[in-house]
Amino acid sequence: MNVTIVGTGYVGLVTGTTFAELGHNVLCIDNDEKKVAMLRQRHMPIFEEGLEEIVNRNMDSGRLKFSTSIREGTQFAEIIFIAVGTPPGYRGEANMSYVEQVGREVAENMNDYRLLVEKSTVIVNTNEQLRRTMNKYLKEAVPFDIASNPEFLREGRAIRDAFHPDRIVVGVESDRAAKLLRELYEPLLKRSGCEYLQMNIASAELTKHASNSFLAMKISFTNAVSRICELCGADIQEVTHGMGLDKRIGPDFLSAGVGYGGSCFPKDVDAFIRMGEELGYSLDLLKEVQAINETQKEHLMRKLQQELWVVQDKIIAVWGLAFKPGTDDIRMSPSLYFVPDLKERGANLRLWDPIAHEKFNQALPGYTYCNTLEETANQADAILILTDWPEVKNVDLAKIKKLCRCPIIIDGRNCFDPATVRQHGFIYHSIGRPPITKSPR
Ligand SMILES: NC(=O)c1ccc[n+]([C@@H]2O[C@H](COP(=O)([O-])OP(=O)(O)OC[C@H]3O[C@@H](n4cnc5c(N)ncnc54)[C@H](O)[C@@H]3O)[C@@H](O)[C@H]2O)c1
Repeated sequence: MNVTIVGTGYVGLVTGTTFAELGHNVLCIDNDEKKVAMLRQRHMPIFEEGLEEIVNRNMDSGRLKFSTSIREGTQFAEIIFIAVGTPPGYRGEANMSYVEQVGREVAENMNDYRLLVEKSTVIVNTNEQLRRTMNKYLKEAVPFDIASNPEFLREGRAIRDAFHPDRIVVGVESDRAAKLLRELYEPLLKRSGCEYLQMNIASAELTKHASNSFLAMKISFTNAVSRICELCGADIQEVTHGMGLDKRIGPDFLSAGVGYGGSCFPKDVDAFIRMGEELGYSLDLLKEVQAINETQKEHLMRKLQQELWVVQDKIIAVWGLAFKPGTDDIRMSPSLYFVPDLKERGANLRLWDPIAHEKFNQALPGYTYCNTLEETANQADAILILTDWPEVKNVDLAKIKKLCRCPIIIDGRNCFDPATVRQHGFIYHSIGRPPITKSPR
């Protein structure tokens, strides 16, 4: 089948590449000319393990192409996915202007039936607004359908998720749309054996926001329990291990830490709260989820501050800038909170991240980057861990200890076993676990 994807970011590029790999002909559209030029020259605008290889393979076979022309995209395929951003608006509501723009432009360019599929995370009943918009901008009376097909991939393991999704959710309200989407996904269903859930459009739209908010809630709940652990001498990792073995709870998303970030959870929780308000229900539960997430960063900063007493002129090694391992995405990453704040207080920062340093430098230029963890630790007064990269978890602590001026680790991701860190002679503060406050030297 021919498929057009409008918006070639994390979701659009991965989705388009997946469909091409499954045998469809895909045209990915983006209005960012630089991005399209890069992709045509086979330079990846994002890092995802395995992505480049599959993009190359499908470009070679001619099944995956890139363009800036929405007109070309509208002509190319009966099925058009909208995968543009839905960033937070002025009051935290989802900014739907990019989605609306695609609806308008597709309507202006179509002269035959088209199925417009919402892949972007949209607020419930966006389909009705899209339908109204398209009807206004259509140049001639041609039929169309809207469908919802929310995306659940996780950055850092997007390719694996794309080929082995937990489920595919599709919201449709016509037989024609239902048939087209089922046919499109048939090769993936055969390959992965995953569940294909067909529902009405509002339910599909809502499934995405409800899922992300629930996951954010799990993280904030764990972080709230971690604070109790710190106050009573319990260990959050032992507690969550005990909780997670209960099949009704499950072990995932029970890691205490510096809080969730990224391009999805913060904005989606916010958008869900605003959506509830507009519909007439106050999602106070999610307001608390947000509040816990914010205080978690402040809490970690306090640990660092208390250990250093004075931040001014201290050399602080920052390990990890990406919002999670496996990605170079820094959107809403905790690093964007810590790094400028510490700089403001006069710290001498040395930053390390295996892949996100370039994006960080584009967002906040002027920092010093190191190529290795050892380099950051040289004469450091403290190490602050913000991303649990494998390089961090496997670092040679004995070597690091020798390099540091003061052996202090403030660990926002619980990367180490406290007993091991103690043996190496570090002062160690993590989340929800008893601190090691004295260096034995
Ligand atoms: N990133 C994730 O992990 C993830 C996971 C699931 C769902 N989502 C949702 O998917 C959507 C896209 O997210 P993303 O992370 O891929 O965003 P992104 O910012 O990486 O990509 C969006 C792309 O759309 C392009 N674009 C914007 N307006 C356009 C237009 N009118 N015509 C053509 N291109 C246009 C931008 O240039 C950009 O390349 C969002 O709604 C997001 O919430 C993201």
